[in-house]
Amino acid sequence: MTIKEVQDEILRLKQEKDICILAHSYEAREILEIADFTGDSYALSKMAAKAPNRTVIMCGVRFMAETVKLLSPEKTVILSSPVAGCPMAEQFDVSKIRQLKEQFPDHKVVAYINTTTALKTVCDVCVTSSSAVEIVRKMDGDRILFIPDCNLGSYVAKQIPEKRFQFVEGGCPVHAAVKPSAVEEARRLHPDAELLVHPECVPAVTEQADYVGSTSGIMNYAMNSDKKEFIIGTENSIAEHLQYLCPDKRFYCLSKSLICENMKATTLMDVLHCCQGTGGEVIELDQDTLTNARKCIDEMIRLGG
Ligand code: 13P
Ligand code: SF4
Repeated sequence: MTIKEVQDEILRLKQEKDICILAHSYEAREILEIADFTGDSYALSKMAAKAPNRTVIMCGVRFMAETVKLLSPEKTVILSSPVAGCPMAEQFDVSKIRQLKEQFPDHKVVAYINTTTALKTVCDVCVTSSSAVEIVRKMDGDRILFIPDCNLGSYVAKQIPEKRFQFVEGGCPVHAAVKPSAVEEARRLHPDAELLVHPECVPAVTEQADYVGSTSGIMNYAMNSDKKEFIIGTENSIAEHLQYLCPDKRFYCLSKSLICENMKATTLMDVLHCCQGTGGEVIELDQDTLTNARKCIDEMIRLGG
């Protein structure tokens, strides 16, 4: 089958079986093209909750499919590729967080949305990369234990000097691997380009950026800017997608190592198999997990996230 034939069959099955397809922006183009919604993981979960369809396929990684299920427990949520995990989201288990809470009893535990649902059950509030600063600023209490990303945590801490932050070792292996020398090299090659960077990168990289923001923040900034050239400091698919969206501008990857193999685990054929009912994994969360993890999301919504 050609890519076009597979896409057409997915679109046909999607309609016939009343399926909503979500694709995170780090997915490949041929997958974004057949999705009902594309974007950040939390934005996708909200759109899926509003969509009328009974079945949702999440093309992304496991914590994203779990977040969809948290917001739409009555729907059948399918993770497109069961092997697609996120090493950052899965780096702590519940017992580690309980131990940290004993160590820092007067701290509020803030969980980046890139955590497992199990971890969310023992945290106080969730944040996304776009809402983290606003939510942490509005929270009661000035002592914050921020998990699991030290780099996003340090970025948030810098904007809120009046609060005290505690971090544990950890972060996104893809973004954190970018070295400041990559910035020097990209600036040398593209002296007129603006550098747009995700806050999952190390401070030595974010400090040199013209703009720091979430994936959708970076995309919106580049699309709305009068500038013509951009160095993209997040997963390399974003530079590619932006190049299609803005053919008159130029987008360069900050580093060729900025590739998330987990986000790339899903293939178009995986999506077809999910639609045919022969692939993917149906996400199941027990009622206690749903109730307790949902509190963490509800607190984020209450604080304006
Ligand atoms: P956002 O899309 O929320 O910016 O997160 C980036 C990321 O690492 C997703 O896995
Ligand atoms: Fe996880 Fe990083 Fe991949 Fe996002 S880019 S899914 S945080 S490993």
